[in-house]
Amino acid sequence: SYKACLFDLDGVLVDTAIYHFQAWKMLGENFNYQLTEEQNEQLKGVSRVESLNRILDWASYSATNEQKEAWLKEKNDNYLHLISNMNPSEILPGVVDFLGQIKAEGYKIALGSASKNAEIILEKTGLMSWFDLIIDGNKVSKSKPDPEVFLKGAEGLGFTPAECIVFEDAQAGVEAAINGGMKVIGIGEASVLSDANKVIPNFIGIKSADLLLF
Ligand code: G6P
Ligand code: MG
Repeated sequence: SYKACLFDLDGVLVDTAIYHFQAWKMLGENFNYQLTEEQNEQLKGVSRVESLNRILDWASYSATNEQKEAWLKEKNDNYLHLISNMNPSEILPGVVDFLGQIKAEGYKIALGSASKNAEIILEKTGLMSWFDLIIDGNKVSKSKPDPEVFLKGAEGLGFTPAECIVFEDAQAGVEAAINGGMKVIGIGEASVLSDANKVIPNFIGIKSADLLLF
């Protein structure tokens, strides 16, 4: 049976997807590129450096490594500024109630995020204390859909992939969970997350005992 829940951060527990989108759009102004929402969808769950590479690719812009380094820093500075006032009100609806349910049922809880800013966000929103383990972008070298982030989560908690359930809002993250041999619950639209085992729009009113039956 299932022993652990592994949560993506951005777009699952908190609302940072909008800040990433804004920060990338601001960066795109440097090379006259307007990022669309459809493209942003494809950047969800994707690491900072890989995201920049894709955007430059879409813009058909070839940048030097030095320029890329500068833009990665600029994007993150934009982003840190945007999240600097984050607070518990930005935890997505139903999340705290759901974490309370699974904690009470004895599940271990881990974070599996590509973000190098994950701990800052968990601190600002007061979510930190729910987690038994945090695997973030500082602890992995391969971007989702590679399963590294979730495999490290399972291993760190001492469970097999088959004992873990992943919660993801991104296509790349759903694929990462599947590639790691885990069940995955998509948070968002079923049409976007069609490979997930189940999809819910959000955590409002969700009863873990019903959701975590496969
Ligand atoms: C998450 C987000 C991505 C973001 C990535 C890296 O996976 O969904 O949009 O690019 O983290 O975040 P970071 O905070 O390290 O730039
Ligand atoms: Mg996400």
